[in-house]
Amino acid sequence: MSALAEIPWETLRERARHATTRSYSPYSRVTVGAAGITSDGRLVEGANVENASHGLTLCAECSLVSDLIRQGGGRLVAVSIVAGDGLPISPCGRCRQVLFEHGGSELLVDAGERSAPRTLLQLLPDAFGPDDLGARANP
Ligand code: THU
Repeated sequence: MSALAEIPWETLRERARHATTRSYSPYSRVTVGAAGITSDGRLVEGANVENASHGLTLCAECSLVSDLIRQGGGRLVAVSIVAGDGLPISPCGRCRQVLFEHGGSELLVDAGERSAPRTLLQLLPDAFGPDDLGARANP
């Protein structure tokens, strides 16, 4: 269960929409913004950062996790990820894994005003995570 009594979805959407205005996306021209809230109520944000070497592009969620770590870390409870039209986009596969590290399977992902949020368990079932490492390392 979330440590927060209530998720401020509209605030997250607004912060994510604002973050799209900071996107660096001259190649795809798809601006993406992300905003999240931590279990202790902090807001974190990010925008996508593209590169002339296209495969090096950083998604908005990576940028958000960077903001989380820069703030001192913590657990993500909910995130909203939107494109320039202001509507939620589904996180790419790599970002699901990146978010899993910092929010786990209970992390809530915005699916818009008319749909229930998805859990990361729904978006990334049977995830590989930190708990899988220790037990599998050679002595
Ligand atoms: N993008 C994100 O920022 N997050 C996602 O989860 C999906 C894709 C960005 C990467 C790229 O700059 C643009 O969207 C088009 O793929």
